[in-house]
Amino acid sequence: MKTVLSGIQPSGSLTIGNYIGAMKNFVALQEDYNSYFMVVDLHAITVAQEPAALREASESVAALYLAAGLDPAKANIFLQSHVPQHAELGWIMTTLVAMGELERMTQFKDKSEGKDSVGAGLFVYPALMAADILLYNADLVPVGDDQKQHLELTRDLAGRFNHRFGEYFTVPEPFIPKVGARIMSLDDGTKKMSKSNPNAGSFIALLDPPDVIRKKLSRATTDSGREVMYDPQNKPEISNLMSIYSQFSGLSLDEITAKYEGQMYGGFKKELAEVVVAGLEPLQQRYHDIRESGEVHQVLRQGAENAQAAAEKTLIAVKERMGFLPAQR
Ligand code: TYM
Repeated sequence: MKTVLSGIQPSGSLTIGNYIGAMKNFVALQEDYNSYFMVVDLHAITVAQEPAALREASESVAALYLAAGLDPAKANIFLQSHVPQHAELGWIMTTLVAMGELERMTQFKDKSEGKDSVGAGLFVYPALMAADILLYNADLVPVGDDQKQHLELTRDLAGRFNHRFGEYFTVPEPFIPKVGARIMSLDDGTKKMSKSNPNAGSFIALLDPPDVIRKKLSRATTDSGREVMYDPQNKPEISNLMSIYSQFSGLSLDEITAKYEGQMYGGFKKELAEVVVAGLEPLQQRYHDIRESGEVHQVLRQGAENAQAAAEKTLIAVKERMGFLPAQR
């Protein structure tokens, strides 16, 4: 059986971008793969986190995984920090990656731009991400479009290790959805929707109440013109709303175009809000039940135990190939 792995940072409220670009695919893939889905808390601390907020967000993301339909009987669900092998292989990866490669990462450029002081963790972040993936010899990594470059680097590092120390790592393939790989911000159709955007009106959080969703979508900026038509180049904002509609309704972009032919943006946006509200309602209900039951803790304990066993095997093999003297028992 092939292995699938991915992760989401507990750094704010997850958005429908995270859901459409990533989480929805995790749920589909768990059926056919040996599955590892993490809450990447070690990545979250590459920018300052308030301890109480980190704790809450970590538990919240794990509960959202379950609420979205990840099944602990099929997938290992765990916190990255509960499996210390990530940090150890992450260090090893920093010794294989070149400064120039890290400097070329667009996420690093975006996140460090205009800052007086940038943590070194933010810079070496992709080395830790490579370790996350390679520790389980993942074949497939479902992510949104913005992680493509990190995946390319992971593939290069796997190849580099194999070349220097002998074939060991699986070179992973990205799994990027055709529609929804890059959900755009509601206030600017040229920017990615992001949970770290200070303007909460720019994203829909998975846990936003129905009225907040309605308000945000009614205020979403739309391109000039009035036709509901999919044309991401020339009409990025309405095209983005159509992608969201498609993801939550199951209708294709052609079906949506036909449905709204000759209608104005206003009516489309109202109906879109109802589609999103109805789509998120069962997830929100399950989320609140899961948080109340406290079942997340048991799921994370079991997930970490399974993940540690797999990760330790890899780490022992990697260290042996690299020439580390085995610890004496
Ligand atoms: P993160 O936490 O920023 O985002 C989690 C996932 O959501 C996707 N995503 C989007 N997809 C579509 N439209 C959007 N607007 C949008 N915003 C976010 C991201 O592409 C991602 O798939 N580095 C990763 C976390 C990570 C990881 C890993 C992923 C750490 N280790 C190992 C895969 C494998 C990140 O920051 O994702």
